[in-house]
Amino acid sequence: MQLSVILAATTLVASVFAADAVSPLKAVPHNLLWPRPQQFTSGSTDYSINPATVKFTVSGGNADVLAKAQARYVANALALSCNAAADGAITSVTVSVTGTDPSDLAQADESYSLSTSATGVTITAAHTVGALRAIETLGQLTAPVQKLPFHVKTDAAGCATAAAAGFQAGFVIPSGPWTISDKPSYSYRGVSLDTSRNYIPVSGIQKTLDAMASTKLNVLHWHIVDATSFPVVSTSYPDLATSAYSPLAVYSYDDVKAVIAYAADRGIRVIPEFDTPAHANAYSFSKGLAPYVLCVNGGAAGTTSFWPTCPEPPCGNVNIADPGAAPAFGALVKEYSALFTDSVFHMGGDEIERFCLGTSKEYVNLAHPGVTDFNTVFNASTNTPSATFEKQLTATYQVYADTIRKALPAGKVAQYWEDIVLSEGVTVPAGSIIQVWNSWDNTAQKNSLQKVLDLNAKGAGYKIVDTNNDYYYLDGGSGAWLTDRGFGPGGDSWKENYWTKFKTWERVYTHDPRKSRQENTTDTDGTGLAGPLTGDLSAIIGASAAIWGERIDSSNLDVKLWPRAAAAAEALWSADSFPDPTQKDFFEALPRLQVFRDRLVSRGYGAEALQPTWCRTQQCGAAFSGYPAGLAYGNQKPTAW
Ligand SMILES: *[C@@H]1O[C@H](CO)[C@@H](O)[C@H](O)[C@H]1NC(C)=O
Ligand SMILES: *[C@@H]1O[C@H](CO)[C@@H](O)[C@H](O)[C@H]1NC(C)=O
Repeated sequence: MQLSVILAATTLVASVFAADAVSPLKAVPHNLLWPRPQQFTSGSTDYSINPATVKFTVSGGNADVLAKAQARYVANALALSCNAAADGAITSVTVSVTGTDPSDLAQADESYSLSTSATGVTITAAHTVGALRAIETLGQLTAPVQKLPFHVKTDAAGCATAAAAGFQAGFVIPSGPWTISDKPSYSYRGVSLDTSRNYIPVSGIQKTLDAMASTKLNVLHWHIVDATSFPVVSTSYPDLATSAYSPLAVYSYDDVKAVIAYAADRGIRVIPEFDTPAHANAYSFSKGLAPYVLCVNGGAAGTTSFWPTCPEPPCGNVNIADPGAAPAFGALVKEYSALFTDSVFHMGGDEIERFCLGTSKEYVNLAHPGVTDFNTVFNASTNTPSATFEKQLTATYQVYADTIRKALPAGKVAQYWEDIVLSEGVTVPAGSIIQVWNSWDNTAQKNSLQKVLDLNAKGAGYKIVDTNNDYYYLDGGSGAWLTDRGFGPGGDSWKENYWTKFKTWERVYTHDPRKSRQENTTDTDGTGLAGPLTGDLSAIIGASAAIWGERIDSSNLDVKLWPRAAAAAEALWSADSFPDPTQKDFFEALPRLQVFRDRLVSRGYGAEALQPTWCRTQQCGAAFSGYPAGLAYGNQKPTAW
């Protein structure tokens, strides 16, 4: 398996860095870098640099990709401040890529070294992607002479006005000379973007990719379709796109290719998700697939409410007992696993609608032949599956999953949500990636990451990506989107529960997929933490911060994602450089995150403000709360919002 090669390399690196873990943490001078490099030294001299005239010399690697990275470096610097006319003391940037790039971006080595002298910058990397990460670091080292924060328009008129007001133009690499040796602690550092609940135009996706690149995130998990709409052209089922919100809210093949190319230029993988068997309503818009979709628009067995048919409208579950279903949906997998070139393909697998299946004659007649009183299989009045129902659910789903996966080209790795292996007991191939999302829903589903590790202890061989909804669901905070009172389990409390709550940057920042304590499955009040994870933690390859789309579109995507997705980015990239990645020093981090956020704002992002500007010089938190800077925080119980 290609991924296990990467994983082995990452594990080796992790132990090397663990041996000389930084303790106490060294603050990054001038609050420059986000994420923190794993290892660095700096000096005490500021060296001037003119980003517009500094000469890049590139050897090896992908010349086209690196030339575009240089252009972004210049544009991003010039968006930040007014430039000086003269050349800087640093006149050269030498980039050497020493190895041959793998065709599979998942195998690319992201490590790099970067050093600065009085006259030049030297970057060395094995692969182009490592050089891209280094150029992002150089961009953050390139700091305005006039320290942030300031407000200046960087066009000619704005710069003239600023100069008249005494503003100092130009850039320096402060605190030089630098030596940086850097690499990610986790190989999978993602954003999970939903374009089905609300459509996000290509430009919005590309803007997100740009910000991701700035903080060294490397996976766009594109949750491109869902029950609500199927906004992408299909050649196998052209009528699917009629479920899109408008004929203009549809990604063409060229759009998809443009997103993939844009991401690849930034060293970002695009992993698409085509979710089945649940979240299936939109598939019913196709004549070819409709016969296999049950409970369309909710209301199985004569009910008009979507609950309990499904957890969120619109409902729709593929009839996994129908032998025609997997081949029909396999055609989609075949189509899109050719269009999306990444070596991983996400096949969904979350939130099977048991009530829907158990009350649908199309399913029960096939899975439980001869049964006439469906309530003996699935008690509809109490929404309770029988043991027989569960057994047949696993059996029919196993056949469906095995069959649809045959549509994947050889060598592609399947990714799934945890439910398929934890809730439905299906077995998927070793090497598959299991994305875990549950935490606090109920006792049975708590601590799901540990439960996948437990499957691995019995030989399952899964890789794990953490999307713990208590830390990584960044879309929360806008309240409920369903307005009918009493909806779902817990009534009103459901609408205000954990995943609709806002996760602070500190909360995201102190979560470490391998080191954070998980939820206590025996603690029924839902507030306690379990002990540390046990098992082979190297199976946990990273995390993906989710921005579900019920209350997100282009109007608020930036403010919801940034800078909090960057908090996840540093937690994942720099984990091994922290003495304890679950106990981080917010006061060390905050000034750097402020600068990262300012840089995004200068480039037109609506990234959320973190503090009053006054706090930039006053250390508000330390001053008011009495904590000495340097104290570590983290691992709060989830009730401590
Ligand atoms: C379903 O549950 C209800 C309520 O507990 C019970 O009265 C009924 O007998 C059950 N039906 C079957 C078929 O078990
Ligand atoms: C989990 O919760 C139970 C019940 O409250 C408690 O006895 C146990 O000590 C907790 N485990 C940990 C590791 O805190």
